[in-house]
Amino acid sequence: MAIDERQQQYLQAMGIQTWLRRDAKEAVTIHAAQTVTVINMPAAPDTVNAGMEAVALPAGNEVYQYNWDQLKNAVQQCVACDLHRARKNTVFGVGNEQADWMIIGEAPGADEDRQGEPFVGRAGQLLNNMLLAIGLKRERVYIANILKCRPPNNRDPRPDEVVKCEQFLKRQVALVNPKIILAVGRIAAHNLLKTDSSLSQLRGRCFYYGPQNIPVVVTYHPAYLLRSPVEKRKAWQDLLFAQAVSRGATN
Ligand code: URA
Repeated sequence: MAIDERQQQYLQAMGIQTWLRRDAKEAVTIHAAQTVTVINMPAAPDTVNAGMEAVALPAGNEVYQYNWDQLKNAVQQCVACDLHRARKNTVFGVGNEQADWMIIGEAPGADEDRQGEPFVGRAGQLLNNMLLAIGLKRERVYIANILKCRPPNNRDPRPDEVVKCEQFLKRQVALVNPKIILAVGRIAAHNLLKTDSSLSQLRGRCFYYGPQNIPVVVTYHPAYLLRSPVEKRKAWQDLLFAQAVSRGATN
């Protein structure tokens, strides 16, 4: 993949150094801490299918007929679980409602609860840089979470909260109808794919979500990458893999 100057800057912000061989037309990416290891490009298209799995959606209720305004309003009014009691704002989702890429995270944190927008804190900054590294501005994608309200002290979402909230996310996915869903982190992956497999088992595979069979690729949560920057190299591989999937490499 040819990497232009701007992308190189974002890759550096992700902690990934790029080197351009004099005789090569393409840049190779090398993690700063591993100067001799060239990152492999994503799996060849014919091997991508190996991880195909379908995740069925249950039969719908009226939420599944809502348009965007009705859906936003329903989320704003929602009192289905106790999380509504402490919230400052619901965090519906943001971005291009016709996006090719949908990013799904876990739940709002303190910054998101305050601003009513997903991924606006430090993890959000890194997510923005990860997206820019593959040429995607934040405004071009659609970003949402498994939960629309902040769990206290950022604890993991509870199953009953996920069940009550998931109709909203399912309708968002159906309305956006993206070419790919990037599930960031264990909680997003587990709840979307209804699995408890480890993240390392889920990475590098293509799953399919809902009646529209939307491809899902799993990667690390940016908050985890802030704590474990050495894993950014693998996240970069995941992004390239997701890019190949979004371009139809699985067909
Ligand atoms: N982490 C998430 O998973 N989502 C957000 O919106 C913010 C942090």
